[in-house]
Amino acid sequence: MFRTLDDLDPEQRLLVRLDLNAPVEDGRARDNRRFERHAETVRELLDEGHAVVMMAHQGRPGRDSFVSLESHADVLASHLDRDVAFVDDVYGEDALAAVDDTAGGEALLLENVRFLEDEELGDRSPEDHAESDFVRTLAPEFDAYVNDAYSAAHRAHASIVGFPEVMDAYAGRVMVDEYEYNTSVERREFDGTVTMALGGTKAEDVIAAMEHLDGKVDQFLLGGVVGELFLRAAGYPVGRDLPDGPDLYDDNYERNAETIERVIEEYGDRIALAEDMAYEENGERAAHDVDDIDEKSVSYMDVGHDTVEKYVPHVEGSEAVLVKGALGVFEDERFSYGTVEVLRAVAESDCFSVVGGGDTSRTVEMYDLGRENFDHLSIAGGAYLRALTGEPLAAVEALRAD
Ligand code: 3PG
Repeated sequence: MFRTLDDLDPEQRLLVRLDLNAPVEDGRARDNRRFERHAETVRELLDEGHAVVMMAHQGRPGRDSFVSLESHADVLASHLDRDVAFVDDVYGEDALAAVDDTAGGEALLLENVRFLEDEELGDRSPEDHAESDFVRTLAPEFDAYVNDAYSAAHRAHASIVGFPEVMDAYAGRVMVDEYEYNTSVERREFDGTVTMALGGTKAEDVIAAMEHLDGKVDQFLLGGVVGELFLRAAGYPVGRDLPDGPDLYDDNYERNAETIERVIEEYGDRIALAEDMAYEENGERAAHDVDDIDEKSVSYMDVGHDTVEKYVPHVEGSEAVLVKGALGVFEDERFSYGTVEVLRAVAESDCFSVVGGGDTSRTVEMYDLGRENFDHLSIAGGAYLRALTGEPLAAVEALRAD
């Protein structure tokens, strides 16, 4: 199905696509499981004597997290226990010189590919992407291309679909492992209830996928940004941007209101929404019922205790529970309750369980929920959701076509 690392000739010059997209604090990447997983692939390639030049993206244009990959090289190096060189260029003179300097057994990380206009240009076909200066300049420098970035596999961007058009392309270990697992979940039939807990900040991906999950998911439990947007559609005065808050809600709502309303109409009470929401007041956690909100005046950081009491029995009564995205800001212990208690219920039940989301799977370690209590912890968010809908993934198609 794919050519894998087992099919590579030794000591090649490799261009390797990873997904190191991570939460950013003070301009620096915070470690997450993506680094750990990709480091295994990179270590294997270095041990085989390959010269490994890596490309990856961070954030989206316009967001605070749209930063350089310099600190990512350090985080990756700490997992590899080896040096990772960095060049703040993708295919200009500096990058080409650094690529040239990379010997067998050495690793180099190029700058954020999303700094290039060529990377994301929307409706381009793989053939068109292959014609970009980015692909045309970089491809001839290498013997082969490896894509390990399963979690970005749903993005038909130049670094994902352009290079396989013109180079021998191989799937990395993470790509193969995540692809096989997520595809097997998509094909699996369950006799009992399938529940899906959805949250996180990337509401658009979640909303788009929900429409296609009918027939596969019996019960949705919502939190995070997507939960607030659904509450807004249900008539509550939440799911709105605050004057001094981030732009997470209004634009998203405008773009997705029709879909949300259609989903609410079709799914009815198979969608469970928060009954109470937590926020910060004088440095402490406070909460109020959604029915008591006249106007949104605080940022909501978690679902409340009553909501958890409503969600947990759904988890306990399920044959399978799929989780994508956190129900609140779990990194802050005051607001981890919703995410952690729902995950704890999953861990304690003997249901089949998959937890996805670049960062959500980190909750399991942070709060000692035990990796072994989950069938699969995916480092993918949007791609995992897309795989569950059965829709093709651009990266997979490109690797297969090669
Ligand atoms: C992710 O974090 O899900 C992937 O890195 C894709 O990022 P994107 O949603 O910004 O394309």
